[in-house]
Amino acid sequence: MSYGRMPIANGFLTPDQYKDEYFFELKPAFCDHCLTFQIEEQPAPEAMFHDHYAFFSRTSKFMQTHFKEYAAWVCDHHLKGDSAGLFVVELGSNDGIMLENFAKRGIRHLGVEPSANVAEEARKHGVNTIVRFFGPDTAADIVTEYGQADALIAANVMCHIPDLNGIAKGADLLLKRDGVLIFEDPYLGAMIEKTSYDQIYDEHVFIFSALSVANIFAAYGFELIDLLPQHTHGGSMRYVLARKGARSVAPSVAEITASEKAAGLHLPETYEQFRKNCETSKEDLVRILKEEKAAGRRVVGYGATSKSTTILNYCGIGPDLVEFISDTTPIKQNKFTPGMHIPVKPYEAFSENYPDTALLFAWNHQTEIMEKEKSFSAQGGKWIVHVPKVKVLG
Ligand code: TYD
Repeated sequence: MSYGRMPIANGFLTPDQYKDEYFFELKPAFCDHCLTFQIEEQPAPEAMFHDHYAFFSRTSKFMQTHFKEYAAWVCDHHLKGDSAGLFVVELGSNDGIMLENFAKRGIRHLGVEPSANVAEEARKHGVNTIVRFFGPDTAADIVTEYGQADALIAANVMCHIPDLNGIAKGADLLLKRDGVLIFEDPYLGAMIEKTSYDQIYDEHVFIFSALSVANIFAAYGFELIDLLPQHTHGGSMRYVLARKGARSVAPSVAEITASEKAAGLHLPETYEQFRKNCETSKEDLVRILKEEKAAGRRVVGYGATSKSTTILNYCGIGPDLVEFISDTTPIKQNKFTPGMHIPVKPYEAFSENYPDTALLFAWNHQTEIMEKEKSFSAQGGKWIVHVPKVKVLG
């Protein structure tokens, strides 16, 4: 399957940069041997994660609460003993949104973050951070300087990393004998169920399932000991792994693995159907946008998400159909979207001159946004939401 020519999802740019814009072919594939769902080609990590990375986790209040709860859950369920003796490492710690919760509890921590600008923001929040990619070398250096860790945690990061073997080797070096590896990422089961194909973009080299995670890490002596479905990012899964036999295995592992088999996540025909569902979603969305335009109605995008890059480029939606996209992230504002070059404007461009219709690219924050935008809806504003099926609300 191919979504065609695709730019860097977070590569918001200015017109002088159009001529050098990087494109690759976004082609997802399913391996019926190891059961991973992944993209075949990924740009070099340095092209995506650098000193002007555009994604700051703190932009969502809901995510701040989520990470506070995630940290509390790690502490309650997986960190034993006096907090002074504990050590937690986070992969891709971004602006410190999760680790600050460990810092506040006096737990020794370290963030490993390749994007220098977000790491700098983390330091402002009291989060100890090094600017590096994680792998066996980084793990060895951390052990030399800080000792082994009780937990290696991550959120929306593991699926970004093509070299999972390097991560597993690094985890093996870094973790104490009974240490845990905990991460959460957008969940393949949710993506297939909702046709939320916008989860597929350059940074997401994998969309994981319990079946694939179990296979990947078994090669390094780890086993799944718990699975916890999450509402974040439109449906995610938290995976908890430990060395085989080191910890007891929760019933969720057998239950969720069985539900994945029932949904056919191990079968190629499931992905053939997914491809057809993507094509239908594209046709429906483009048809509705053309109808809005024909009726002379203004359509504005809400949230210049990474996900929107896949939708805009796969569906061929440009500034002729979507006037601009409003976004609260300063680094994205007054730039243009990757590939289709739709202007990105500050939130006030939306709130001070409501369009007729808002296309909700940040659909994973729908509850938070609908709550915030009651007055838009009250004065007759309509929403286009494309997940789980393309529809107009209001
Ligand atoms: P998000 O959906 O978290 O992720 P991704 O980029 O991984 O697809 O991105 C949220 C984007 O939406 C971010 O650029 C900020 C923007 N946003 C708003 O502009 N207003 C809002 O109320 C919210 C919640 C997000």
